[in-house]
Amino acid sequence: MIMTEKPFITRIVPEEFRLDGADSLSITTVKDMASIFLSKSIAATMQDRIVYRVTKRNVPLESGELLQCITEILPGDCDGELFMTKGHGHSNSACAEIYLGISGRGLVLLQRGNEFQAIELEKYKSVYIPGGWNHRTVNVSSEDPLVFYSIWPAQSGYDYDAIFRNPFSKRVFRDGSSYKLVGVQ
Ligand code: F6R
Ligand code: ZN
Repeated sequence: MIMTEKPFITRIVPEEFRLDGADSLSITTVKDMASIFLSKSIAATMQDRIVYRVTKRNVPLESGELLQCITEILPGDCDGELFMTKGHGHSNSACAEIYLGISGRGLVLLQRGNEFQAIELEKYKSVYIPGGWNHRTVNVSSEDPLVFYSIWPAQSGYDYDAIFRNPFSKRVFRDGSSYKLVGVQ
């Protein structure tokens, strides 16, 4: 079994909203989320818009190891539905995760069976996401990016189908200078 042997550091680069020491960058556009935003027709007209960027530090995907990343969700919306991550569950449902707000204002949507919660995320606030809860993050500011740090077990895995098997009970839309949660039929 290959494990991380030596201590290492990462650093959050404040003005660039990325993790220095990360070894992967992924960029998600509206096109990548065509099946996720409610308005498929408007999504089709804004396919190239970047919704979020993730810089992640990889480690061996072994028990005991920890992954970490910075997510930057840009301000914006698709026909009023605020920019957000795709959302997922962890393939290994025993695995929890911590999100720590770095800057901006957001909401973490959490769904387990019929149970739904929306928790506000802001600078220096952390949200503990227990295993078994699907999670998605929404940028509720129309001006600033939402930036947060995540740390989670390397053996979690990503289950992106989980949000289709058990959709979030609410979507988040712009409402003037604020936001509103709208129930999904
Ligand atoms: C990892 C985790 C976060 C998200 C990231 C992007 O378990 O929850 O690092 O992966 O915020 O969101 P998704 O993965 O939903 O595209
Ligand atoms: Zn996760």
